[in-house]
Amino acid sequence: MISSPVVIAIDGPSASGKSSVSRLVAEALNFRHVDTGSMYRAFTWKVLESGIDPKNRQQVMDLIRKVRLECDFIENEQGGLRLRTRLDGTDPGAVLRSPKIEAHVSQIAAIPEVREWLVQRQRDLAAQGDLVMEGRDIGTIVFPETIFKFYLDANPKIRAQRRARDQNEAGFAKAVQVESVESAIAERDHKDSTRMVSPLKVADDAIRIDTSLHTPQDTADIVLKHIRSHYLARK
Ligand code: DC
Repeated sequence: MISSPVVIAIDGPSASGKSSVSRLVAEALNFRHVDTGSMYRAFTWKVLESGIDPKNRQQVMDLIRKVRLECDFIENEQGGLRLRTRLDGTDPGAVLRSPKIEAHVSQIAAIPEVREWLVQRQRDLAAQGDLVMEGRDIGTIVFPETIFKFYLDANPKIRAQRRARDQNEAGFAKAVQVESVESAIAERDHKDSTRMVSPLKVADDAIRIDTSLHTPQDTADIVLKHIRSHYLARK
């Protein structure tokens, strides 16, 4: 028997294709989609917006106590349900993908109190029903008991090209160069995988998929095939 609610955990480094694949998988299964990176990004936005130095752990902890964090679900353009995170009533929106947030989010995500607070919220979301949750520690820390764990990765050059294209399309900066994105990604990977709490790592029982040469739909199909065969095997 597969316990309910069902959580599909999709982890991996930035620009590994997690977001598009998670969205497609959630839509195919009619599950809600939770991008946990957007929760860390939203709180980073609030820290910067409040004039707090991200290195000042005490002030960041004080902000956790004061801020009103609301997580709910809204329809995406394809009609699926995606997480919306509001802080003191504001959804920061597209700015979450800006280079400024990119530059500080790893630092904020390394603070144990921030992780404890957001991980608890992430677990609460599953109490409301089935979901696809993407992040860095979903299969290892947030939902270690789920049987559906995937770890996506891709070659660093391809990840940098994807991220540069996304940033250029979003129009945050003029002509972002792939080389500078590649070094920013490498720096963030290093911080995310060497931090003391919940570092990015592959769960022992995760299915690894290299997305370098796949479209998001190809990868989503692989994930869905595994999920369906697991379901059938356990019926
Ligand atoms: O997936 P992303 O690039 O939007 O994640 C933004 C940052 O948040 C990234 O530096 C790592 C961190 N993060 C994390 O520590 N744990 C998660 N579950 C999700 C993201």
